[in-house]
Amino acid sequence: MTQDATIRLVGFAGSLRQGSYNRKLLAAAQRLMPADAVLEILPIDVVPLYNGDDEASTGIPRPVAALKEAIAAADGLVIATPEYNGGIPGVAKNVIDWISRPPSDIPRVLYGKPVALMGASPGRLGTALSQAAWLPVLRHLRMRLWTGGGPLYVPSAAQVFDEDGQIVDAEIEERVRSFMASFVDSLRPR
Ligand SMILES: Cc1cc2nc3c(=O)[nH]c(=O)nc-3n(C[C@H](O)[C@H](O)[C@H](O)COP(=O)(O)O)c2cc1C
Repeated sequence: MTQDATIRLVGFAGSLRQGSYNRKLLAAAQRLMPADAVLEILPIDVVPLYNGDDEASTGIPRPVAALKEAIAAADGLVIATPEYNGGIPGVAKNVIDWISRPPSDIPRVLYGKPVALMGASPGRLGTALSQAAWLPVLRHLRMRLWTGGGPLYVPSAAQVFDEDGQIVDAEIEERVRSFMASFVDSLRPR
């Protein structure tokens, strides 16, 4: 019997905006994956605002449970994060907060999960501050931040993507391709 050697990643972009640069960046990463790997993009518009009363009365919402299982089953997670006011946008933080519920599930779903961060912004720093703000969150959840590809910051995003979400800057496209290839490589069984 042959074993399926496909590396399976899941990812989400921390923006609800239709024309989100981070959605475009994640979609580009999906297109640029190595041949023996896949990146499934997880929807986050199905995630309600976290409210402890709702959790106490009705438990984990079905879409959140589906996200948790997808992450638990994946070889790694990719987060494409926008930057708001030098930090993590509430929408993106809300996703990870729900995924961390209940705490008894954190070890199964998140502990040791390899995670790669990337981000795009129209500004000059390309989400450097937001990605830094993710670090304590990932550490708190004992996730395994992959740093082998160096940081993937995409500044001046308005000039990087066209209307259809294609990357028009060949250097950045190559950077995304090699970033994903290195992340996948780091996940191959040795
Ligand atoms: C409330 C708010 C705060 C923002 N703060 C920053 C910031 O600190 N740094 C930055 O580079 N861009 C900032 N921006 C601009 C975002 O990077 C920009 O809206 C970007 O398009 C958001 O990501 P998205 O395209 O994936 O939705 C901010 C935008 C908003 C709405």
